[in-house]
Amino acid sequence: MNARNDLLWDTLELRHPLPTDGYALNQLVAASPPLDTNSVYCNLLQCQHFADTSVAALIKGELVGFISAYCPPNDSETLFVWQVVVSEALRGSGLGKRMLTWLIDQPGTEKAQRLTTSITPGNRASWSLFESFARDCGAIPVKSMLFDRHRHFAGEHDDEYLLQIAPLPNRPDKPINHHLDDLRAGLRFSNRRWLD
Ligand SMILES: CC(C)(COP(=O)(O)OP(=O)(O)OC[C@H]1O[C@@H](n2cnc3c(N)ncnc32)[C@H](O)[C@@H]1OP(=O)(O)O)[C@@H](O)C(=O)NCCC(=O)NCCS
Repeated sequence: MNARNDLLWDTLELRHPLPTDGYALNQLVAASPPLDTNSVYCNLLQCQHFADTSVAALIKGELVGFISAYCPPNDSETLFVWQVVVSEALRGSGLGKRMLTWLIDQPGTEKAQRLTTSITPGNRASWSLFESFARDCGAIPVKSMLFDRHRHFAGEHDDEYLLQIAPLPNRPDKPINHHLDDLRAGLRFSNRRWLD
């Protein structure tokens, strides 16, 4: 770690989002291709309804990073990461991984046994972030098709692959069969093209 990083981490605040972060989040996402932009209203709802399962990163009051995530209504043991964003100037400093690590240690996510996310094939930074996080967890990432370019996006968006990371650290030990069931259950979002 160098002096720039020391200074960065000294001034960094990680906390759950507030509704008043919604507009700044909208601007940060809009400035961060290839992320899909959302309406301000959508970002306000993320900050309000998913606050306990999301994280905002601030430096001197400015929003510099965000993870929007939630537990799907039918699956309280999964934490699904919708979007991760780090402001351009801070990318590659370790902030993305810090936010993920912080988030899985919060009371609002403690029931989650696995983390899932969806990534387009060409998003190298995102694959690297989640693969590095999985390595740190001692977990094996499993990839499957989630939404197909033609079937789900009418050819207007890249494929979205589901990446599942389990088990997460600091959870009660589960028998190995549970993890196998886990892998199958985690693929219920996908069209199972890879495992069946
Ligand atoms: C994806 C993103 C959130 C990563 O955040 P970050 O803070 O830069 O990531 P980190 O610094 O924590 O890096 C984590 C790991 O990924 C690697 N990595 C980060 N960016 C990379 C890149 N462009 N190419 C290759 N590897 C990369 C780092 O080297 C690190 O690996 P290591 O732990 O083995 O050393 C950031 O690049 C971003 O905001 N991109 C635009 C929005 C986006 O695409 N979001 C993801 C889709 S939801």
